[in-house]
Amino acid sequence: MTLSSSAKKAYVCQQCGSVTPKWKGKCDECHQWDTLVAETVSVSLPTDTIHAFETLSQADEHQFPRLSTGMAEFDRVCGGGIVAGSVSLVAGDPGIGKSTLLLQLAGMMAPKTAVVYVSGEESSAQIRLRAKRLGLQDANVHIISTNQLDTVLPMIPKVLIPGVLRGFIIIDSIQTMMLKSAGATPGTLGQIRECINTLITLAKSTGLAIMVVGHITKDGMIAGPKVLEHMVDTVLYFEGDNNRPYRLLRTIKNRFGATHEVGVFDMVSGGLREVTNPSALFISPRQQEIPGSCIFAGMEGTRPLLVECQALSTPSFLASPRRSVVGWDSNRLSMILAVLEARCQLCFSKKDVFLTVLGGIRITEPAADLCVALALLSCLKKRPLPKRAIAFGEIGLTGEIYPTAFGEHRLREAEQLGFSHVFMPDSTLSTHSMTLSSLNHVKDLDLWFRS
Ligand code: TYD
Ligand code: MG
Repeated sequence: MTLSSSAKKAYVCQQCGSVTPKWKGKCDECHQWDTLVAETVSVSLPTDTIHAFETLSQADEHQFPRLSTGMAEFDRVCGGGIVAGSVSLVAGDPGIGKSTLLLQLAGMMAPKTAVVYVSGEESSAQIRLRAKRLGLQDANVHIISTNQLDTVLPMIPKVLIPGVLRGFIIIDSIQTMMLKSAGATPGTLGQIRECINTLITLAKSTGLAIMVVGHITKDGMIAGPKVLEHMVDTVLYFEGDNNRPYRLLRTIKNRFGATHEVGVFDMVSGGLREVTNPSALFISPRQQEIPGSCIFAGMEGTRPLLVECQALSTPSFLASPRRSVVGWDSNRLSMILAVLEARCQLCFSKKDVFLTVLGGIRITEPAADLCVALALLSCLKKRPLPKRAIAFGEIGLTGEIYPTAFGEHRLREAEQLGFSHVFMPDSTLSTHSMTLSSLNHVKDLDLWFRS
């Protein structure tokens, strides 16, 4: 199908993408102020139609071969390697390490395929300097510093090579790129949409893989329209805490694999290093047991991850005692406190309660309920949990504790890391060499601490 287009001037909201013929101070759709920018909007009309349906069983001429990057953490996040003909978006805060990650990937892919690194943000000299710091000065990567996609695109077919993946292109960043045909300045909705459309067409027609860097706004959204996320095949978020050296690469969308995968990296002087045993990052190294701490056997995507929860309750001098939570849902903490009060006759109403998940990670699974309840009781009763113990299970309002998904994965990870005791509700799971304390109701918790 070919498209013909005609162009006209209009005002496009940079926040939500709505188009109006007249300028307004406030967008009618998303009610944001000062977001309308004059752009040339091209109206595309289909000039050709497809005449026949296809079937699901039909053999494909286009396959989706994958190529491993050699960086196991990155491969897992992508669903097993970079897919030929795919366009991925890597988004993250400024300075988090997007350019570093992609330059390292470029270096690792260079022996396997043709690699082009297009930077609209840094000069060639800066890229070379960074490559030197990363030990990649001899990698066969084609670099170019420009924001003119019109200039770069005709050069790409010349460097492609035959193979599983004909080429790997990195665009750093989509907000700095421009196409002359789109009219407006770089970073505007029209430019972003045109550039990404052109890149998608290029990827699908030539079978090369494209990875695009996307800026995010101060409220954590990818700068530019949501439509950008809809158009690409994979969306990866690179996130981390400026105070900590590790970085998490999360899959938000993946047309070729599972979402909610997480890759863990460490930012060191020589660039990003894969962390193959991330559980060690989120557990405090300590010699003796302390009341108020419990290890949660959690899951991040398909990977088990052990994290430490710590609870503290102290007498409160406030009319409404404080409930302070870091790394977990405060409503969920209120619910657990209410269940413990109602079902075990424990009293938290005159106490401030603090809960923190170590390592700056955020837990969203309800399976952490049992771990939080154990940490709270351990603090309240001033009795530590057994050394090398883990917990997982969801607590209902009735006080019952329910088994959770991926129990087998959680237990195996804990066992491999030398944990020998597990608190969980009854299930058919084999705990192998681990000691089991089965807890099916919050009253069992209370009994365990009395025993
Ligand atoms: P960068 O990749 O430029 O971030 P982004 O492209 O997401 O804006 O990362 C810059 C940060 O990474 C900078 O603060 C320094 C740090 N860094 C290292 O710690 N070690 C390194 O080897 C490199 C290249 C960068
Ligand atoms: Mg950068």
